[in-house]
Amino acid sequence: MTEQQSEYTGKATMEKITSLAKRRGFVFQSSEIYGGQNGAWDYGPLGIELKNRIASMWWKEMTQLHDDIVGLDAAILMHPRTWEASGHVENFTDPLVDCKKCKTRFRADQIPEENLKAKKCPECGGELTDTRKFNLMFRTHIGPAEDSASLIYLRPETAQGIYVNYKNIIQSNRMKIPFGIAQIGKAFRNEIVTRNFIFRTCEFEQMEMQYFVKPGTDVEWFEEWRKRRWAYYEKLGVKMDRLRWHQHGPDELAHYAKDAYDIEYLFPMGWRELEGVHNRTDYDLTRHTQFSGKDLQYIDQDNNNERYIPYIIETSAGLTRNLLMILCDAYDEELVSGDKDSGGEAGTPGQGGAAVDWRTVLRFHPSLAPVTVAVMPLMKKDGLAELARDIRCELKEDFATDYDQAGAIGRRYRRQDEAGTPFCVTVDYQTKDDGTVTLRFRDSMEQVRVHTNELAGRLRQEIKAYKRIT
Ligand code: GAP
Repeated sequence: MTEQQSEYTGKATMEKITSLAKRRGFVFQSSEIYGGQNGAWDYGPLGIELKNRIASMWWKEMTQLHDDIVGLDAAILMHPRTWEASGHVENFTDPLVDCKKCKTRFRADQIPEENLKAKKCPECGGELTDTRKFNLMFRTHIGPAEDSASLIYLRPETAQGIYVNYKNIIQSNRMKIPFGIAQIGKAFRNEIVTRNFIFRTCEFEQMEMQYFVKPGTDVEWFEEWRKRRWAYYEKLGVKMDRLRWHQHGPDELAHYAKDAYDIEYLFPMGWRELEGVHNRTDYDLTRHTQFSGKDLQYIDQDNNNERYIPYIIETSAGLTRNLLMILCDAYDEELVSGDKDSGGEAGTPGQGGAAVDWRTVLRFHPSLAPVTVAVMPLMKKDGLAELARDIRCELKEDFATDYDQAGAIGRRYRRQDEAGTPFCVTVDYQTKDDGTVTLRFRDSMEQVRVHTNELAGRLRQEIKAYKRIT
């Protein structure tokens, strides 16, 4: 767990990532034709595939690979008392100031101290209002009447759905402490400032796991979960020198936490929180006991029916924020020799056959890439297109595939590089003679001939053995 202090030296900028995401169908602005909806984004064909794969890697890690963790999908709308018990009604606030002149709204903790003291707008120099507390929960009403009795909140974290179900799960699944409950789902926060693309949004998704432990063992489990979460990002193939730990100081700790560490990632705009690991103590279950009147103690049948309120170790990652991290981490640009990638076709400048060419490439781990393999005929004619379609058809049972026959082969490779497709299969005249195809690797641009009978096996091997080279 080394702390790397270096500043960002990668090739990505937020502008490049935002523009590529739109151009290639990863992420679109919500309601764009109406001028866009602040704080909300839509995930396009490649984006939803990437998001689903990140979610399923996390889900596998938590549930399949941990015998003592089970899953849950709780409702977004919960009884409003939940949020009184959790402390969100009282404490889930940000300090807010407005500029009386230019009307810009700021989070008071994000503007320079001297501006706040002098009540001077950092944008236009106008006068700032007094700081006031702003609750981040979205409120709405359930049923036809809009009164206090029908008030309901959109959940600001998925965690509470787990706490209110913890007894159900112990009873239905015979769980014994220590054990965990994992959940992926939408969360909503009325963020004062949304900036940096999908980094901080009003509607987002979380991947949270709550681990219930015996009081007194919480510090040990907290350290254990910090280790496990760090190892998870290593497994994802993320550049580890772009990750570091940040321990919350006393003024940063959430109202429920005894200790908390963030895993921060070095985004193009600097170090930012990616995931939090929190020791939430017995705060949540004690409060739910008080507010619901239900006994939420754990009864340890293996230890003379000892009763206690468990402590909770939480790992809380943003799914949509992880997606942004994966995009930034994978992004690369490089100068390449066009000949290397001409695929046997005479090149033209800018089409992959020229002497030198720039390429943008997303170096996703193959298990995360929205498309695993793209199949393409060198020419549309002479039966090559039909052959390529047949090969795609065979591969698609086991892999996410794409088919592309438009344009020069070098240009098609570039399109797949930009979408992060790790493997391309090209069908040419030799395929008709001996049944072999060209297998082209995204990262090295190396090309090898493989018999179609061995293609699926070879791809599986390559995915398993994948190591990022830059
Ligand atoms: N249950 C604990 C909890 O929600 P948090 O630190 O407020 O803790 C956890 O949020 C994670 O959720 C963050 O590390 C971040 O990845 C993600 N997250 C929080 N607010 C977000 C927002 N407005 N937009 C996108 N992701 C957000």
